[in-house]
Amino acid sequence: MTTRAVIKGVGHYLPERIVPNAEFEKTLDTTHEWIVSRSGIERRHFANDDETTSMMATEAAKAALADAGLAVDDVDAIILATSTADLTFPSAATMVQARLGMTRGFAFDVQAVCAGFIYALSNANALILSGQAKCVLVIGAETFSRIMDWTDRGTCVLFGDGAGALVLRAEDGKGTKDDAGILATDLNSDGSHRELLYVDGGVSTGTTGYLRMQGNQVFRHAVEKLAATANTAMERAGVTAHDIDWVVPHQANIRIIQGTAKKMGLPMEKVVVTVQDHGNTSAASIPLALSVGRARGQIKNGDLIVTEAIGGGLAWGAVVMRW
Ligand code: UT7
Repeated sequence: MTTRAVIKGVGHYLPERIVPNAEFEKTLDTTHEWIVSRSGIERRHFANDDETTSMMATEAAKAALADAGLAVDDVDAIILATSTADLTFPSAATMVQARLGMTRGFAFDVQAVCAGFIYALSNANALILSGQAKCVLVIGAETFSRIMDWTDRGTCVLFGDGAGALVLRAEDGKGTKDDAGILATDLNSDGSHRELLYVDGGVSTGTTGYLRMQGNQVFRHAVEKLAATANTAMERAGVTAHDIDWVVPHQANIRIIQGTAKKMGLPMEKVVVTVQDHGNTSAASIPLALSVGRARGQIKNGDLIVTEAIGGGLAWGAVVMRW
């Protein structure tokens, strides 16, 4: 017998306001055609003032708990992946805890930018395998619209806001690749690439700052590192590309998604793609894609999934799990 962190429910929240590419043509030297051809993005959701990271995370968490048929009292821990917490502190996770009316357990944020949800899943898995928690809410939520430089056409057309959540619970497995739940994880970071993607504000500047990115440099790292980390996680899980039902990649750029799938030897028919509708929602993109993939009827019980992401740090990683 092996303990496994098994997916019991999924949910998401997207801001009401949808912004098509054409909106940017009014203020920037850009076109819908450029944005679609270089990134695959057609529209994104932007939060209003009330739609904070903790508010959206809470709504996604409620949806995931309802999907799981579980109550807030069943939850031992909340891990929230975000780089856009409402305040410097306390953690957005503790704000979600309060908003949910959860009076026990513990909550904390994980900050690994676009790889945040992979790091959060890996931490949740470790908490469950070590017996420190039985039921963990794992959330990715972002309001990147609040750190956009609206004069920088190379970044502001790419990002969006939203939240997604999974409920994981400890269950007995056989210890084989046929078990439900998380089968393997792989985490990596290399702080020497800091200048490729960062926010130029924080406590050292006294400002919130704006996202800065050398997009084409990040692009180069992405395809190579994403395929490698996915392959490492699959090897650890004892599975091959042939066994995979769905790749659920971080949704930054359709060309990165296609290049990574090709390197992994997987056809695009096996990839869940939401980047056209959400843009890059950083740590929220994978749980959003899992939730949308499930709602579309793509991801079914028993399906084997590999999920991968890279972002600022650089930080990157992958998780293999069976639904
Ligand atoms: O999630 C975190 C990780 N982030 C990513 O994965 C993002 C990775 N990078 C990318 O997605 C792509 O690199 C971009 C979509 C950001 C850019 O695509 P690219 O094919 O790498 O283009 P580029 O940066 O090499 O720029 C090509 C040209 C430049 O003009 P010049 O210097 O060739 O004259 C840019 O100034 O496109 C120009 N450009 C634009 N033109 C119209 C940049 N942004 C825009 C724009 N509209 N919005």
